Amino acid sequence: MKPRRFRTEDGHLTAEMRTAFDADGYLFLENFVAPAECDRLRARALELVEGFDPAEHRTVFSTTTRSHAAADYFEGSGDKIRFFFEEGAFDGRGELKQPKALSINKLGHAMHDLDPAFDRFSRAAKLRTLAGDLAFRAPQVIQSMYIFKQPQIGGEVSWHVDSTYLYTEPLSCVGLWFALEDATMQNGAMWCLPGAHRMPLKSRFLRKDGKLTTEVLDSSPWPEGPRVGLEAAKGSLIVLHGQLPHYSGPNTSDRSRHAYTLHVIDGECRYPADNWLVRGPELPVRPL
Ligand code: FE2
Repeated sequence: MKPRRFRTEDGHLTAEMRTAFDADGYLFLENFVAPAECDRLRARALELVEGFDPAEHRTVFSTTTRSHAAADYFEGSGDKIRFFFEEGAFDGRGELKQPKALSINKLGHAMHDLDPAFDRFSRAAKLRTLAGDLAFRAPQVIQSMYIFKQPQIGGEVSWHVDSTYLYTEPLSCVGLWFALEDATMQNGAMWCLPGAHRMPLKSRFLRKDGKLTTEVLDSSPWPEGPRVGLEAAKGSLIVLHGQLPHYSGPNTSDRSRHAYTLHVIDGECRYPADNWLVRGPELPVRPL
């Protein structure tokens, strides 16, 4: 099944686009970001990686203390810019198999508040207009991720919905997924289950007794049904409803698949204190 594709110049959504989003749980907007803007963000991400010394976080990757230190590094990343490696990046001795810039899986989770280039991209006027047309009352950017999906070793992201990770009461999370390079079936484009966003939330990822854990709310399987492959040209924006199941396969091709994501929640909804992503008092969540 092919996705329906739309275009908006200024971020406003037509009635047809809103109907498509309500029906499908995703909205595919072609040519949303100019190619030069995509290139600027890619260049900035690579600069950040260049400034990161993997040796500083050596314990993260040591075989003995790996899980504990890695968990701390991840758990505290909600208001930081942190660097996470692809699983296939290391050899048996814990050494990088290839250059650092080709080994990072993603950056997260507060570039939009800590880095001026990411802040500018993330708070474009078009995005505020879009959020208004998606019926947000007080849109806030709770999380940003820069995903590299590296050639040959880019890891799979298993089926999930984003509201599992960014839970509010009532649910309000919407993902904004920007293709900074062409995403194809060869380099790990996303897939989704259109219409399945109407199902109740199946799980929450939260903090319990000082540990991150998944609480299962409903163990029934995802529905069988047509899956839509979201091949996306550079500059596309795919808006994902927080309850829409989506997935992306590994990248075994020679071409990377860089993407940037923002997750928006409504500031008028409750953000429970046991959510995994915590922001310290010195870096409160800001409006879109
Ligand atoms: Fe996701």
